[in-house]
Amino acid sequence: MKRIGVFTSGGDAPGMNAAIRAVVRAGTAQGLEVVGIRRGYQGMIDGDFIELGPRDVANTLQRGGTVLLTARSKEFMTPEGRAKAAQNLRDAGISGVVCIGGDGSYRGALKLVEEHHIPIVGAPGTIDNDLYGTDYTIGFDTAVNTALDAIDRIRDTAASHERVFFIEVMGRHAGFIALEVGIAGGAEVIVLPEDPTSAHMCAQVIEASAGKGKKSSIVVVAEGGYEGGAEALARDVKLCSGIEGRVTVLGHIQRGGSPTAIDRVLASRLGAACVDALLAGASGVAIGEVNDEIRLTPFKEAVEKRKDINRRKYELAKTLAL
Ligand code: F6P
Repeated sequence: MKRIGVFTSGGDAPGMNAAIRAVVRAGTAQGLEVVGIRRGYQGMIDGDFIELGPRDVANTLQRGGTVLLTARSKEFMTPEGRAKAAQNLRDAGISGVVCIGGDGSYRGALKLVEEHHIPIVGAPGTIDNDLYGTDYTIGFDTAVNTALDAIDRIRDTAASHERVFFIEVMGRHAGFIALEVGIAGGAEVIVLPEDPTSAHMCAQVIEASAGKGKKSSIVVVAEGGYEGGAEALARDVKLCSGIEGRVTVLGHIQRGGSPTAIDRVLASRLGAACVDALLAGASGVAIGEVNDEIRLTPFKEAVEKRKDINRRKYELAKTLAL
């Protein structure tokens, strides 16, 4: 293997640049040429490739987003699109690829490996932390801290006005962000897809909190935790109990910003481990970190096995909301 490609795909996540930088520098250190593929799978189909040397990734470690850009490519979903992508990689002399992205990106990589036998390894880049085979994904810690900063601010106004706030955080079908910020932000209620809560149950907890002397409450709602999100939950809580609340949907603010030290270190470590794995002949595997050790998990397992939330943490959150 002389020449490898690297790309980011799906939703961007803080720390993706740190991972790209690690692939470029670790690859160069091991005598490889590294090619950046822009706009994910779409760039692979369009042949949008750029040579990347160590200086090209200078000053990117601390930047959010992805310097290689990202996209969700419809064309890549077709066998023709994937065939074109594979041919472009071969024509460019790329004999190994590092994919930085979430479960959709891993599914795409698996197809390329199976159909066209291109060696690909993945680094988990998503704020959702919903990938099996790694304790944490790149971008999760930053997103949590961004959301937490917003919740702390909302807590100030909630306390001043003695109000209930429903705050929606991202995570798609997973509640990792909600659970983490729920604990760190002292939420009275955390609504997770992993443990659906009815509006009635939510209202009961808010009422019980008021009964214990709490003048304001924070309800953290994972976007997949309630049909229609925080807006719908606030509406239904009002309908069933008369409790009025304000709603804040944090949205894409959680995807941006400078990565935390935890994300930079994780991304650096996993990016370099991807290069090692390719050189060792690995393919079709996701590189993760489990108990501080590098772990390789087949893409198929990484996307099909569901990583559960930490139930003990969830119980702790309820206990501490006393
Ligand atoms: O997967 C990352 C994520 O931010 C999810 O939390 C969210 O559901 C989704 O992407 C939003 O996607 P888009 O940016 O395409 O609206």
